[in-house]
Amino acid sequence: MLDNKGFDLWADGYDKSVGVSDKDETYPFAGYKHILNEIYNRILSHSGRAVLDIGFGTGTLTTKLYEQGCDIYGQDFSERMIELAQSKMPDAKLYHGDFSMGLADDLKKTRYDAIVATYSIHHLTDSQKVTFINSLLPLLKEDGCIYIGDVAFNTREDLEKCKARTDWWDTDEIYIVADEMKKAFPAMNFEQFSHCAGLLSLKRQGE
Ligand SMILES: C[S@@+](CC[C@H](N)C(=O)[O-])C[C@H]1O[C@@H](n2cnc3c(N)ncnc32)[C@H](O)[C@@H]1O
Repeated sequence: MLDNKGFDLWADGYDKSVGVSDKDETYPFAGYKHILNEIYNRILSHSGRAVLDIGFGTGTLTTKLYEQGCDIYGQDFSERMIELAQSKMPDAKLYHGDFSMGLADDLKKTRYDAIVATYSIHHLTDSQKVTFINSLLPLLKEDGCIYIGDVAFNTREDLEKCKARTDWWDTDEIYIVADEMKKAFPAMNFEQFSHCAGLLSLKRQGE
């Protein structure tokens, strides 16, 4: 599993490698742009503009939202990713920290219209994901929503089929299986966007 130094090294080539995998429709990033666009449109279609991005990377999604006037908050553990994202969003409140240890205290003081995590929380085990998502729900405003876009599948069988069709599979990453995650969050919605990418959404109202 990549640690913060691994992400530091990947940071400058990240956008390019994601773009190639997405364009070629290969695992792991097939469907990446589609999912980020969908999250972008859903956030902007609501009036509230406070957005927290967990593992924002180079800021591909949040920079677009920032340019539309959103107040961007975020946490990442790669110093190079933070540098790159901060240079594109000078007024964003970006914090350094490992989210497996929870959120930075300052980030817990705000209430958000949207909390997004794209291609980041597969670094947590499933039980850590449940604990982490439960810690995020109270940080949403009344109509707020959590969006998780990632390599994700409706069922374990779908995951296994995708794995069998893929030459290389990252065994360090723990991908979401929606029907298993729904046991902890019955109101969670799941949409499949490509053979390997899915979008989970969870409203505070659905708690
Ligand atoms: C694959 S990139 C995704 C970046 C961006 N969200 C996107 O959609 O392109 C994963 C990001 O999550 C960050 N990350 C991974 N594990 C983390 C952790 N435990 N704590 C904080 N950041 C983490 C990495 O530094 C990296 O910036």
